Amino acid sequence: MAQRKQQRYDLPPYTEGWFQMGWSDDLAIGQLRQLRHFGRTYVMFRGDDGRVGILDDVCPHLGAHLSEGGCVRGNSVRCPYHHWAFDAGGRCTDIPYATKIPVKARIAAHSVVERYGMIFMYRNKAGTAPARDLPTMDDFDESSYMRPAKYEFEVEIHGQDIMENSVDSPHFSAVHGHDMPVNTFREEGHELRVTQLTSVRRFGTTLRARLEFHLIEPGFHYVHFPEMPGPAAHVFSSIVPVDERRVRHRLSLRIKRSPIPGFSLVARQFLLWQMMKTYREDMRIWQSKEYLPHPVLCEGDGSIMKLRAWYRQFFDPDEPSVRRLDVVPS
Ligand code: FES
Ligand SMILES: [Fe+2]
Repeated sequence: MAQRKQQRYDLPPYTEGWFQMGWSDDLAIGQLRQLRHFGRTYVMFRGDDGRVGILDDVCPHLGAHLSEGGCVRGNSVRCPYHHWAFDAGGRCTDIPYATKIPVKARIAAHSVVERYGMIFMYRNKAGTAPARDLPTMDDFDESSYMRPAKYEFEVEIHGQDIMENSVDSPHFSAVHGHDMPVNTFREEGHELRVTQLTSVRRFGTTLRARLEFHLIEPGFHYVHFPEMPGPAAHVFSSIVPVDERRVRHRLSLRIKRSPIPGFSLVARQFLLWQMMKTYREDMRIWQSKEYLPHPVLCEGDGSIMKLRAWYRQFFDPDEPSVRRLDVVPS
């Protein structure tokens, strides 16, 4: 006897855009990683020339997965099965037992850009060239910040719900115990920007901060803390679907270098603690909540529907968009 269970989200699980696939210093020359994203696997590697390649994971020879036992040789990744080799552009560079390489010996290669110490890949359903360049971050001088603290979580949620959290003013008070923030929401081109003035009681005093949220793409957004107790901070937030149910959320927290010895380190510890606390508080609700396409909202609920309308532009028209019914054993 089977029981029907509804998907939580009446949304396509994937969007097009640029997505962070990892941090640059986690992929040395000669290393290879398996990436599990968008319901499939990819192989990512760095050749001797330092270039990062991300290829479809299926060898066109007899179908072996390159990420399952493959290795890097020179500027190519070598398949574990019969040692055919492919470069970062997906071209076959070597077949150890043949002199002639078949014309069709190619693998789909994805557009990759390394910037801000991170590796980004462009993804759309058709696998075509990027519709636009990788976004940049305003006034962000990496050298004036300490090395980032890096965090990575796998969460059972749709990426849109995580972004919705940024514009959901009342939850900052109800869930995180902050005073009710004052949010100013504006659209600039295809970006959303939210300025949040917030305060929280900690250590017997009121700490005030200004947060600038920049929502640029589903996989590319960041929060700048230009005003807060201590040096300015910056959090890059990367959300990449793993499959139809889960996303990988990567956070890179940077603190501005301070001339006062140790000050930036103390500020970083405090912000980390605060960030992890709020993350745990959100996670409990995120992982179980339902998605309501038509929520009952009231004055003060912020710009939730505007956020959803903005997010919709990144859904691929060919991506399945209806809530599916999964059949699971009872
Ligand atoms: S399956 Fe990859 S080389 Fe044969
Ligand atoms: Fe939150």
